[in-house]
Amino acid sequence: MAPRFLSPASLAGVAILVATAGGGFVLWRDADVLALRLPSQVLAPRQHAPGSPREAVEHFQCNRCHVVPGLEPTSARLSENCVTCHQAIATGRLDLWYRKAEIQRWNEHITHLVRTPDLGSLSQRVKRSWLTSWLQAPHVVRPLYGATMPRMKIGPREAELIADFLAVTQEESEEAARGDAEAGRALYAKHACASCHYRGDSPLATLRYGSPEFRGPSARRRAPDLRHVRSRMSLAQLRNWLSDPHRILPDTEMPTFPFTPKEVEDLATFLREPLPEVPAEPRPRYRPRLLEREVHYPEVARKLSSHLCFHCHSDARRPGDQGPGNSGGFGYDGASLDLATRAGLLRGIKRDGRFLGLPDRLEDGTPRLVAALLARHGEMDGQTHPAVLGMPLGLPPVPEEEIDLISTWIEQGAPE
Ligand code: HEC
Ligand code: HEC
Ligand code: HEC
Ligand code: HEC
Repeated sequence: MAPRFLSPASLAGVAILVATAGGGFVLWRDADVLALRLPSQVLAPRQHAPGSPREAVEHFQCNRCHVVPGLEPTSARLSENCVTCHQAIATGRLDLWYRKAEIQRWNEHITHLVRTPDLGSLSQRVKRSWLTSWLQAPHVVRPLYGATMPRMKIGPREAELIADFLAVTQEESEEAARGDAEAGRALYAKHACASCHYRGDSPLATLRYGSPEFRGPSARRRAPDLRHVRSRMSLAQLRNWLSDPHRILPDTEMPTFPFTPKEVEDLATFLREPLPEVPAEPRPRYRPRLLEREVHYPEVARKLSSHLCFHCHSDARRPGDQGPGNSGGFGYDGASLDLATRAGLLRGIKRDGRFLGLPDRLEDGTPRLVAALLARHGEMDGQTHPAVLGMPLGLPPVPEEEIDLISTWIEQGAPE
């Protein structure tokens, strides 16, 4: 459901509050929230191919989810800023302008995109080769984070431009770690690193949208799977990080351990030991089951479309834009797909100037909507579908039962 706004009467109440608070402090602090009521100029997706580092980060709208150092403004305006707006809700900043009950309900839902990793310290934390290949085919780094980096139309050229913009230059040196891996393994156990970190043993393949794990302790949610350390960090970056993470990222929840240089070297040697590649075998693709009972639109909307998909596939009622999957964004032109209403679902996506309707089937007969949900399951295993973008974009795959539900609804002719 699109956010609904306060009545003029309650706005008058707010004006009084501002006046009594004195000095306009509340107004100053919440001017961006207030501005949500004003018609906003939408960050237009750019049609042209980016030619410079700056154009690349603007084109892909990295500042809708990250604070992007060097870009002015460093983050997009609130009405378009996925992370800042969700944060404003989670921390009660929208309470002034919306109904309490509504905020409470939203808060029960909003788990994802309430924060994103810091990009300012990136040049000290990752190698250039990792960044450029990851941007083109993102895999999950933090298994319990919930949201992941969305797949975008980033090719080798755009990836190099972005790495330039973020000043990520460091490459691997030829030098090998000289410590004792077994001593490193013992330190890893002694300091309970695994209380926050996975190391190749994350339950990623079973995590689904709505899993309680995504609401666990924040330090654990933010901790990377250390299986990627070898490809992500140079030896020098790893040593620096282990010596003093707070020097690199002042607000990190990783403790600074008083390691001696020898201990740092032992840990680095252990962490750089290769682990077996995953996945060894692609998992068999899930085949949706058709339910015996009738499925009606309100159930589909409640479980799926109007709760999870609507925000990127919104309708004209939403202030600001209609989302990256409808009117465009994140470098996508937009598929004109409105998933906030049944009429929008029936109209389907727009290709070559016309709406394809529902069901819009791929060659193998799978409705495109279902194919997109299945494709997201594959993306978690690192298998990207060449022709279908996994949905929900950049979020955990939806549970199998919900794919059954929407498949059944579509095959039953999408009843009201
Ligand atoms: C829809 C929101 C969204 C957008 C837009 C977005 N990101 Fe991200 N980004 C994320 C999330 C969520 C993560 C955390 C992923 C993880 O750790 O598995 C992330 C992680 C990253 C990381 C890894 C940082 C680290 O410490 O591991 C980099 C680098 C990054 N993003 C760069 C970019 C760039 C460059 C753009 C624009 C091209 C961009 N992001 C656009 C959501 C977004
Ligand atoms: C103006 C504030 C605002 C902005 C901007 C915003 N959201 Fe939301 N978002 C909300 C609210 C409110 C909800 C909860 C709606 C509900 O539960 O009915 C929500 C819910 C969601 C959800 C489902 C809840 C969850 O945690 O999975 C997703 C996904 C989502 N938003 C993605 C995005 C993305 C992607 C963007 C940026 C393109 C974005 N939002 C921008 C306010 C905002
Ligand atoms: C309280 C939780 C916690 C503990 C305990 C912890 N870490 Fe971390 N660690 C984190 C978080 C969170 C990050 C990510 C940085 C951030 O975003 O704050 C991180 C990042 C790292 C990184 C960088 C990985 C990357 O891919 O970017 C390494 C390496 C690392 N930790 C090693 C260790 C080792 C070794 C130990 C045990 C000696 C340890 N950590 C203990 C929370 C923890
Ligand atoms: C974070 C934003 C986001 C979320 C959440 C999201 N989408 Fe999308 N969706 C997009 C973007 C961006 C596109 C691509 C638009 C384009 O091609 O220009 C897209 C495209 C699609 C397509 C066309 C895919 C193709 O490759 O042909 C389908 C179908 C779709 N979305 C369904 C869904 C469904 C169902 C959900 C909810 C489970 C959902 N989306 C959630 C952003 C999102």
